[in-house]
Formats: sequence, C-alpha cells, structure tokens
Amino acid sequence: MTADVLAAKTRVFDRWAPNYDGLLTTVFYQAIHQRLLSYINLPRELPTAVLDIGCGTGKLLNRMASQYPQLQGIGLDLSPKMLRQARQGNCHRPRLIFVQGASETMPFADNQFQAAFSTISFLHYPNPKLVFMEISRVLKPDGQFHLVDYTPLVGLGTQQNIVGLGGPMYFYSPQQREILGASAGLRCHAHYSLLGPVLLSIFKA
Ligand SMILES: C[S@@+](CC[C@H](N)C(=O)[O-])C[C@H]1O[C@@H](n2cnc3c(N)ncnc32)[C@H](O)[C@@H]1O
Repeated sequence: MTADVLAAKTRVFDRWAPNYDGLLTTVFYQAIHQRLLSYINLPRELPTAVLDIGCGTGKLLNRMASQYPQLQGIGLDLSPKMLRQARQGNCHRPRLIFVQGASETMPFADNQFQAAFSTISFLHYPNPKLVFMEISRVLKPDGQFHLVDYTPLVGLGTQQNIVGLGGPMYFYSPQQREILGASAGLRCHAHYSLLGPVLLSIFKA
C-alpha cells in the first residue's frame, strides 16, 4: 500500500514541478519559510548539518544557507522533477545537495543531522510513525525536528482525499503531533501558528 501511494505522489509532484514555483505557491510557501526561520536558532559560526524532508524545489534550504554561512544542507524528496528544479536553483553548491528518496526509508546514517525540517510535506505520508522513527534515527542526540503543516480543517476530519494529489492527505492536531513524536522518542516542546491553519511544531530528540 505504501509503495503504491509513494508512486502516485511521485507522479503528481513530477507533473507539478515545472510550475511549482509559480506566483501563488511562491508567495504562500515563501511566507511560511520566512516565518519558520524566525523561530529557529542555529549556530552561525559552526558547521551545522540540516535535513529538509520533502524539500520540493529547495527554496527553504537556499533561504537558510543565505542566513547561516556555515550551514550544510541536504534536501530529500521523492520526485525527480522537483529535485531537478532544486538542483537548477541551488545557489549554495556544494553546501547544499539534493537527494532522491522517501521519508519512510531515508538514505542517511544514524545521528547525522543537528536539525530536520518538513514544510507542507508530512500531510502526504501514508505511514507517519515510520517517518518519525526515521527522523529520530537520523537526528543527533541534541537535534531538533521542525514540523510545519496544516492542522485539521474544521469539519473535514483528519484525513482527506483530494483528487489530483495522488491519494490521501492527513492533518494532525497539536495533540496528535505530540503523540506521534512521543512514539519515536521525540518530545514536542512548542507549537507556533505560522499562517492560517499552518502550524509549526518543534520536537527535541
Ligand atoms: C507541497 S510540496 C512542499 C515542498 C517544500 N517542502 C516547500 O515547502 O515548498 C510536498 C513535497 O513533498 C514531497 N513528498 C511527498 N511525499 C513524500 C515522501 N513520502 N518522501 C519524500 N518526499 C515526499 C513531494 O514530492 C513534494 O516535493
């Protein structure tokens, strides 16, 4: 089941990739990225390894690399065509690289990253517990995970099937996020509203 969903999501995002950074998405996603960065505090003087899970066209990592001159980032995404856009728009080579893979089976070593991020990607994951386990595995012992996604839309429940987005999408309340994190040994220590229903939840390893 998971493999079928991942294949369908890949097809959808491959199709969307050439137009993903159009005006509407650019304004919306970039506003979210900008607000997210106001809540993070990474070391400026030390090399810091960060991971962007479901990185899409790589805009968040480019913004972070501009702000943090020592940052070394890896973007992970299912969609080869999203990754092609990310590589073409990479302003910080070789500090940023973009890798194909699934959030459910990350091609990274244990304890590799100081911080991990996921912006508007987690809602697509058919097996969220598995993804949290992977995040917990790849984070260093003092690492942090920043989850940015929609909370449940009033009246629509926690799961929606939206035609054209390759299958179900899942929306988690603050409490559901805390439970998911705890199941993988990640403690949620804050939630911040970023834009409308988009909520940032910060987890510590
Ligand atoms: C709406 S886009 C968000 C992209 C980017 N994070 C941003 O803020 O603009 C969702 C991204 O998640 C990726 N994605 C969806 N499911 C995934 C999975 N299971 N593993 C890795 N990437 C996934 C998609 O390919 C797509 O690029």
